[in-house]
Amino acid sequence: MSGFILKRRSYAVASYFRWMRYSSTTNKPFESIPGLSSLPVIGPIHHFLPGIGSVGPSANFFELSKILFEKYGSVVKLDGIFARACLVILYEPEHFDQVYRSEDLEAPSRPGFETLVYYRTELRKSTYDGVYGLTTAQGMQWRDFRTKVNPALLKPKLIKLYTPSLEEIAEDMVARLFRLKDDVALQSNLDLEITKWSLESIAVIALGTRLGCLEDNLTEDHPARVLIKCAKDTTDLALKLEFFPSLWKFYATSNFKKMMKTLDLQWETSVKFIEDAKRIIKDRAHELPEEDKSVIEKLIAIDDKVATVMANEMLFAGIDTVAFTTIALLYNLAIHPEIQDKLREDIRSADKSNRYLKACLKESLRLFPVIPANLRRTTKDHFVAGYHIPKGVDVVAPHEFLSRMDKNYPRATEFIPERWVVEKSDPLYYGNCHPMVTLPFGFGVRSCIGRRIAELEIEVFMKRFIRDVKVTWEGPPIQVTSKVINNFKKPYYFKFETAL
Ligand code: HEM
Repeated sequence: MSGFILKRRSYAVASYFRWMRYSSTTNKPFESIPGLSSLPVIGPIHHFLPGIGSVGPSANFFELSKILFEKYGSVVKLDGIFARACLVILYEPEHFDQVYRSEDLEAPSRPGFETLVYYRTELRKSTYDGVYGLTTAQGMQWRDFRTKVNPALLKPKLIKLYTPSLEEIAEDMVARLFRLKDDVALQSNLDLEITKWSLESIAVIALGTRLGCLEDNLTEDHPARVLIKCAKDTTDLALKLEFFPSLWKFYATSNFKKMMKTLDLQWETSVKFIEDAKRIIKDRAHELPEEDKSVIEKLIAIDDKVATVMANEMLFAGIDTVAFTTIALLYNLAIHPEIQDKLREDIRSADKSNRYLKACLKESLRLFPVIPANLRRTTKDHFVAGYHIPKGVDVVAPHEFLSRMDKNYPRATEFIPERWVVEKSDPLYYGNCHPMVTLPFGFGVRSCIGRRIAELEIEVFMKRFIRDVKVTWEGPPIQVTSKVINNFKKPYYFKFETAL
């Protein structure tokens, strides 16, 4: 028996080395992947300098993906800046699919902001106490957390139960927007107004309480406004600290100090809301029926610490993402009046399936994803597209760029919701495209945990809004800027009036 095992083992070892030899002879080394050359310490940052850099400053990640693709082809390498991992952009869905599928399917690795990881695992280690949340945890810590929260956040049946509360908020928001429609300030602060609605909506689901974000004259020091500002400041600072050269790993730079202060403020402010919600649950003499429970009430029964950290992450990750996606959909409907009319007709009809509304949202996410690319860090060697990609490399799938390529979709840059509802025989049918091309919520077990919630929030709001309001856009095409996540450039040229 032991001889048999030894023989099997030596056969396995021999075939591994044969495979390695084969792989290394037929695949080119990692260093030979075309891309931006790197200088010591600063990496490839000089290529992005205005005027003299070979790439120049890009307005957004889409533009950068396009420039790199046209210059280097379908496999592009960017060396790490200041000890960050190297990055490889793969433009063929078969290639990143191959890498992603052979990574750890139980607990895939997606690096979080390094400053946030430092904050949770070092600076405030005792606060988090090993429960680091979905955005920063890896391996079994991530798996354990995700397993506990998945049912409460992802089960469509459970999420649908929040519809009446969301309808109430949508009603208030539509009234508010209509009140503000002639205010010129809306041209510059529409995103703030929509973010107040997205925060109010996520809070009612997470905590079961209304925060009062939609009240008039919400002062800047109102805790809800503080949370909105913290989310914005965190992404702005993350861009400076994580995507540009920064010495924060060597000493506390002023942006690093600001980041730590912002994270403290976000935590303290959200924990006040979370503790209030917990008090209400505790003081309630009776148990609520399952369908009336907030996410936190469901999670407390499983793990109190996980409940707090998850609610905190919902009040952070669920604000700007939903606001951007909602503005994008409003914009697409505003510049396509015929599609808007068709949607309004559908909403006002007896058919309550929301099929066309869902198609509009999918199409809008295809063209305007808030996160322009997906990413996984390799935990082993890969041989893909004729190259060796070693362990520890960030493999990027630039899905916004790929989704706008005619090679992947007919009339790829056009907003055509019909793609998502036509029959298979129609050339527009979305299923003709590789399923990994359009992934606005990510993919696999580590995909967005807020997906169902976000879709419901947006659908409920848009149904109420488009039913009664006609939206138009009276300005040049909207522009996207990328600051870790995508944002819109101001001003907003929307015009709202009563729909007939
Ligand atoms: C339209 C709105 C949203 C979009 C487009 C979006 C998109 C994404 C994407 C692309 C990822 C990365 C997934 C991956 O790596 O495969 C992600 C992760 C995540 N999202 Fe969202 N998101 C949205 C709304 C929300 C909401 C409302 C919440 C709050 C519940 C949320 C919480 C999270 C969290 C906690 C993660 C990390 C998941 C993990 O690593 O396990 N997101 N989101």
